[in-house]
Amino acid sequence: MQLQLSTWPEVEEYLKISSGIVIPIGSTEQHGPNGLIGTDAICAEAISKGVGDETEALVGPTINVGMALHHTSFPGTVSLRPSTLLALVQDYITFLTKAGFTKFFFINGHGGNMATVKAAFAQTYTHLSELQIPNSDRVQCRLANWFLCSSVRNLAKELYGDREGSHATASEVAVTQFLYPEAIKNVELDAQLPPQDKIYGPDDFRRRHPDGRMGSDPSMATPEHGERFYKAAVKELSQAYREFLQAE
Ligand code: NI
Repeated sequence: MQLQLSTWPEVEEYLKISSGIVIPIGSTEQHGPNGLIGTDAICAEAISKGVGDETEALVGPTINVGMALHHTSFPGTVSLRPSTLLALVQDYITFLTKAGFTKFFFINGHGGNMATVKAAFAQTYTHLSELQIPNSDRVQCRLANWFLCSSVRNLAKELYGDREGSHATASEVAVTQFLYPEAIKNVELDAQLPPQDKIYGPDDFRRRHPDGRMGSDPSMATPEHGERFYKAAVKELSQAYREFLQAE
């Protein structure tokens, strides 16, 4: 069930049986020579909808743009500053709490969002208690990163070994190929693995990673692999969501 395709009376009915919501969060950033700019948002949204179907959870509107400042020397990248993302996440949670939601399960597709989203959770708990919204003391937020699911990690290791990498990975490119086969790019990639350095500023990032990849070989991605990653992530995160709902 998607919030965007629901009416307010339907949301009111839903809240009588559940106070949980799944919120996809991704990024709009360069993903190497053959990866789509929307990769992180596309993956997070599709996996969230899969979890919603599996668990009958309401799925909120996708946060499509995330914290991608280090990718902004490549054209097409759009980034929020950490402070903007923090405020955005806080506003999502605040007004959904006001409606009656208390269990927020964010399914994330971008490593660069993690620190800011966790900071947003910490700040929001205090913000809610200051606002004295009923039930705000029961609000719980969870950040679930689909690409860190153990089933996903294991499959990536099996399929790609040390060529999975950490950005513009073969696994995430495979998921987008499964979802959007019409957008598959046939691009020749340098066979030598690019470095997987630390991340500093955007110009430094582009200097170290001229084609945008970090330690990855996304030429190995296939739509069939993508379907396997998608199913593994939906299965593991559906279980995690159910446990999160039941936990005190
Ligand atoms: Ni990504």
